[in-house]
Amino acid sequence: MKQIIVAIDGYSSCGKSTIAKQLAQYAGYRYIDTGAMYRAVALQAIRKQLLEPKSNDALEGGNKGALADHIGIILDNTHIDFVVQSDGTQHVTLNGEDVEKQIRTLEVGNGASQIAVIPEVRRFLVAQQQQMGKNGGIVMDGRDIGTVVFPEAELKLFLTASPEVRAERRYKELIEKGEQPVMADVLADVNDRDYRDTHRDESPLRQADDAIVVDNSHMTREEQMTHIYHIFDEKCK
Ligand code: DC
Repeated sequence: MKQIIVAIDGYSSCGKSTIAKQLAQYAGYRYIDTGAMYRAVALQAIRKQLLEPKSNDALEGGNKGALADHIGIILDNTHIDFVVQSDGTQHVTLNGEDVEKQIRTLEVGNGASQIAVIPEVRRFLVAQQQQMGKNGGIVMDGRDIGTVVFPEAELKLFLTASPEVRAERRYKELIEKGEQPVMADVLADVNDRDYRDTHRDESPLRQADDAIVVDNSHMTREEQMTHIYHIFDEKCK
């Protein structure tokens, strides 16, 4: 059977990576988390002291210019890979070092959203993503997969859920992490991120014209996966 390219895009806190991972497992395909690649570049920039590992505001100062000046050197010295573990999960490596844990912090996430707007960074990562998926048999998730990385992907899914539902999910995650979030703040953050993702100049989050929209606001995880497996099976027929 032909091995297709599955592109999954969507808003933050929609469960994209969980869905992409499960679909890859179901299909027997390779899964690529492109967000992890942006995070790895951010980690490299933080380590080179060109990105402040703090809030977004901290980056509005002098570091921004320094980062822009040095981004070429950073990218020349950044080799990102994914290494499959014995339990089947994948860890991202930066110049051979397993940085899976280090890239999952809030600070690196903030850094990633800063470096994701730099055109050279996007060109660098998009070229690698296209290389990884060129033979098909891949499920790739991100913000620009169906529009920029693989506009010719056979199956494009665009995941969404209402801001309120996503804020609720994020709120629960934060509570589980032992934090004490305020619901109104979490909702405001979800709305802010949506605005930033959809309004940036470089590859803004946009639904591809031929993407299938999956709104999982009122679906259980099982219902959602059954629905997605069905879409995938129909596409592969
Ligand atoms: O999905 P994530 O939170 O791991 O992504 C980290 C950051 O990278 C986030 O700010 C969005 C950005 N990103 C992007 O611009 N394009 C992608 N294909 C994937 C992630």
